[in-house]
Amino acid sequence: MTIRRVLRLGHPVLRQVARPLSAAEIGSERVRQLLADMVDTLHDYGGIGLAAPQVGESLRLAIIEIAGGPTRYGDLAPMPLTVFVNPRVEVLDPATTGCWEGCLSVPGLRGFVERPRHVRIDCLDGAGTPATLELRGFAATVFQHEFDHLDGRLYVDRIADPALLAFDAEYERYHR
Ligand code: NI
Repeated sequence: MTIRRVLRLGHPVLRQVARPLSAAEIGSERVRQLLADMVDTLHDYGGIGLAAPQVGESLRLAIIEIAGGPTRYGDLAPMPLTVFVNPRVEVLDPATTGCWEGCLSVPGLRGFVERPRHVRIDCLDGAGTPATLELRGFAATVFQHEFDHLDGRLYVDRIADPALLAFDAEYERYHR
């Protein structure tokens, strides 16, 4: 079990455009180990998703795990731990949905971000098999947030109103 340190806002790797994985890399021991570390790290820090650049690996790779049930984001459909390799996002409906987002790379803060509410994801799974998902609402937000990391983008870049950036305690008190 290896818990990696999650890089924080300001680390230059978080601002790089990550490179795609080759077919040969996807099943490699190195990537298998990286994914195992990312799972350990996500579970240790707590969170919904983690992208490889957040642990210092500039690769187009992310994991997402949604526990489901009632949360502060509303009732979520659960998604078991899933690996996404070289994902592409296509916007199916540009109408937006707004959400207070947080990020393990921006600890202690939340910000209100609007994103397209209906997207399609084309990617490879952890075995290199092509997969397609259609997502709406909060799930669409989660995926767009994670995959932004692969392009060197953080949710704070997408906050339209700077007044809607808050520490966790102030978010709970004034904005929830
Ligand atoms: Ni994040």
